[in-house]
Amino acid sequence: MSGKLNLMQKVANLYNMCGIVGYIGEENSLPILINGLKALEYRGYDSAGIAIFSNNKVKVRKSVGEVKILENDLKDQTSLVGHLGIGHTRWATHGAPSVINAHPHSDCTRRIFVVHNGIIENYKELKKYLQNRGHSFLSNTDTEIVSHLIEDFLREKKDFKTALFDALKMIKGAYAFAIIDSKNPDTLYAVRLSSPLVIGVGKHENFLASDPSALIGKTKDVIYLKDGEIGEITKGGVSITNLRKQKTPSEIVRLEWDLEQAQKGNYPHFMLKEIFEGAEVVLYALRGRLRSKENLVKLGGLEQVAEKLKETKRLLILACGTSYYAGLVGEYLFEEISKIPTEVHFASEFRYREEPFEKKTVAIAISQSGETADTLAAIRKAKKNGILTLGIVNTVGSTIARETEAGVYNHAGPEIGVASTKAFLSQLTVLTLMAVYLSKSNGKSSNHALLYELERIPEKIRTILSKASEVEKLAEKYKNCDNFLFLGRRYNYPVALEGALKLKEISYIHAEGYGAGEMKHGPIAMICEKLPTMAIVPQNSISEKMFSNLEEIKARKGPIFAIATEGDEGIEMLADNVFFIPKTIEPLEPFLTVIPLQLFAYYIGTKRGFNVDKPRNLAKSVTVE
Ligand code: G6P
Repeated sequence: MSGKLNLMQKVANLYNMCGIVGYIGEENSLPILINGLKALEYRGYDSAGIAIFSNNKVKVRKSVGEVKILENDLKDQTSLVGHLGIGHTRWATHGAPSVINAHPHSDCTRRIFVVHNGIIENYKELKKYLQNRGHSFLSNTDTEIVSHLIEDFLREKKDFKTALFDALKMIKGAYAFAIIDSKNPDTLYAVRLSSPLVIGVGKHENFLASDPSALIGKTKDVIYLKDGEIGEITKGGVSITNLRKQKTPSEIVRLEWDLEQAQKGNYPHFMLKEIFEGAEVVLYALRGRLRSKENLVKLGGLEQVAEKLKETKRLLILACGTSYYAGLVGEYLFEEISKIPTEVHFASEFRYREEPFEKKTVAIAISQSGETADTLAAIRKAKKNGILTLGIVNTVGSTIARETEAGVYNHAGPEIGVASTKAFLSQLTVLTLMAVYLSKSNGKSSNHALLYELERIPEKIRTILSKASEVEKLAEKYKNCDNFLFLGRRYNYPVALEGALKLKEISYIHAEGYGAGEMKHGPIAMICEKLPTMAIVPQNSISEKMFSNLEEIKARKGPIFAIATEGDEGIEMLADNVFFIPKTIEPLEPFLTVIPLQLFAYYIGTKRGFNVDKPRNLAKSVTVE
């Protein structure tokens, strides 16, 4: 590795925020690239650029700031028409945000044009090596060395493909590249190592993107490049080879997402739209899988491992962020319903633990994107140790979906808001179905009441959403608070953690989620008039205990905002504000209790003037460690 990465580099490396798009076909590539870049805006970026093969040469245009600035700059450029193009949104790592440092980058002869996501770790050595060989550089980026390195091999009279392969052998790091060779305008090159890249397959045209959401409205058929693969994309086909120059088979995966799902519609933000999709995503995840009258759960994705699953003695759930909190709800579900001991781990911790793997353990990865680097590493570790791995993934064909041996898709559609909302509900749905499925494998005959109630959950979610304005009013009251405590127990303990996470992510308010029973072991010391508590206290087996905790808070003058069950009069004596939810059975409460918390974070964030769809410093999918 060449020296240490600075803080900005580390942050961008960690979150991999840049975006890539590419097009080859019969249409003019410019509007396709611009729309693709707009679809990737949610990832966060500081500059944007495109390169288009037009009138026998590649023309590059870049600008600092939003994609619409680039779009405006290009409005009058009617001659910028071409059937091959690449585009990029950059989040600065090597070199400040500027037009010079924005991608695409080129070589000395301006033959090769490259856009890049990721970090080239040995770029300093390579740059020095290339400078000594007479190359001169325009930018401060690590990316520019790629075009010069290929150029250098071309000087040795190598053909482009050989030069590309030789260059890749010298590059260390994590990358996804889209490359144009202006001497061969019939091909768009795509290379992936640890940074996602997906090819969209069309009719007489093909697309390229770092994230399938950029392809929505263009094609539903995609090929995910695997690590170490190089795609040669023409308008009529795709050919894939590995770094050893061997052809590798490619599988076309069908995305079920549609354009409407990826647009805001009448909502001011994706986050609000996605919260309001809560009822639908539960229905989508249930579709074709649940027949409550027959007490039947059918999970086609698990059929191939059904026999093995019958022997499960222990479950390990591996996930990050909101998916991790869904996993914590899963722990309660699997233990109560399936009677299988379950542990949930942060994937980032699990990958470095000395885990004594036991036979008959099954590992479940939960991931909305299917690309989270830590979750992928954790699942690879489990697999290496002979453990059966399953996935609960939203993005069809993503790396985690491919690398787990079996699994169940969420079918929640694209989630664009950086803070996860609807995916959480769909994860809860799949976890509940899986818990029932495994309980059957374990010989339990009936979960009739649970399945009956699960079918009623979407309607109850709609009832809650119809009262969103009540949450908005309360957000107005609490919007200037600096700290918040979230308390819950049993199934609502993970919801307290998720509610606190949402508030942190979206409103930048310090919030702590705690198991209410633990309050006396520390957090109670903080209770005072200035620390409001969000108490998740539906009527259930543990509500009396929760009430005692709330008495303790009230005695110390702490303001209380409670989420409680309709008809519970007692809570109004204790809490300053109450939001009522419909009654349900305890294992399904998180479906209902989380919605007001998502809305609360949303309204406080917007009232504080923040861009809730793109919270600062966060990325939708964290694809590099
Ligand atoms: C990031 C996102 C979170 C998400 C987490 C896990 O931190 O900002 O919203 O929960 O990654 O992502 P995954 O795609 O694996 O569910």
